[in-house]
Amino acid sequence: MSATRLDGKKIALKIRAEVAQSVQKFVEDGNAAPKLAAVLVGDDPASQVYVRNKERACEKAGIASRLDRMPASTTPAELLARIDELNSDQSVNGILVQLPLPQIEGDGPALDEREVLDAIDPLKDVDAFSPINVGLLMQGRPRFLPCTPHGIVQMLHRCDIETAGKHVVVVGRSEIVGKPMAMMLAQKDSTCGPQTANATVTIAHSRTSNLKEVCLSADILIAAVGRPEMIRGDMIRPGAVVVDVGINRVGDRLVGDVAFDEAAETASAITPVPGGVGPLTIAMLLHNTLLAAKLQSG
Ligand code: GUN
Repeated sequence: MSATRLDGKKIALKIRAEVAQSVQKFVEDGNAAPKLAAVLVGDDPASQVYVRNKERACEKAGIASRLDRMPASTTPAELLARIDELNSDQSVNGILVQLPLPQIEGDGPALDEREVLDAIDPLKDVDAFSPINVGLLMQGRPRFLPCTPHGIVQMLHRCDIETAGKHVVVVGRSEIVGKPMAMMLAQKDSTCGPQTANATVTIAHSRTSNLKEVCLSADILIAAVGRPEMIRGDMIRPGAVVVDVGINRVGDRLVGDVAFDEAAETASAITPVPGGVGPLTIAMLLHNTLLAAKLQSG
């Protein structure tokens, strides 16, 4: 392996310590501790782990949290009513509905993720999934930045990886990662974070016919497709930086969207899975929860 390992875990701990310090100052200034409400519908094992990790991270940062568990049989009306309640609860600063929502059991009405996310007060939308926050980002005046792409921007900056003028290929066009990631890196100057903008961005996806050639043209390759080890070593330009957003369970192993060992032979730097991008998402969620509390404090 010749590539440098980009240690997301270490960077995330640094960001979490910074947020904890800012939370302490916010409280010393006479404000209540920021509070995050997480809603978990059903009992998807991976979601349970994510939510537990988020709760623990909040606690360590001095952020209060509450977890609303709802059964998989929850109806859309019940879930929307709970979100309404959290929207009007003045003690709650941030609301997060853990995705994916469960598929409906029996023949009741299905939970529509879009409808549910649209119902969250945009000022409490710490995931930045609401149309208002997506729109503000598109216009280059973001309020909340979506946590995973923001974590990647922070990592690139903190590792002195310049994006201006570089060709970034984002593989994947999801609402959560691919689309906002591309938008953030293409923004002018430091709209979405220090020194991480002004890139030339290509979005590739499952219908891209010459994926290998497109990937080979990347100075920075960001893989967010959710397909285990789909990006092979021969798709990486020598010296490229590779960011792997994928977390796929294969048997009892967790693997990324990139074949790590092959890619590490060619890349100059690469994120591992686990321990790369994942921890950064939680760190940026804490950052957004504090930001929400500050926005609501006037
Ligand atoms: N499920 C997978 N990633 C995320 C995320 O960033 N936020 C929420 N709410 N659910 C998720």
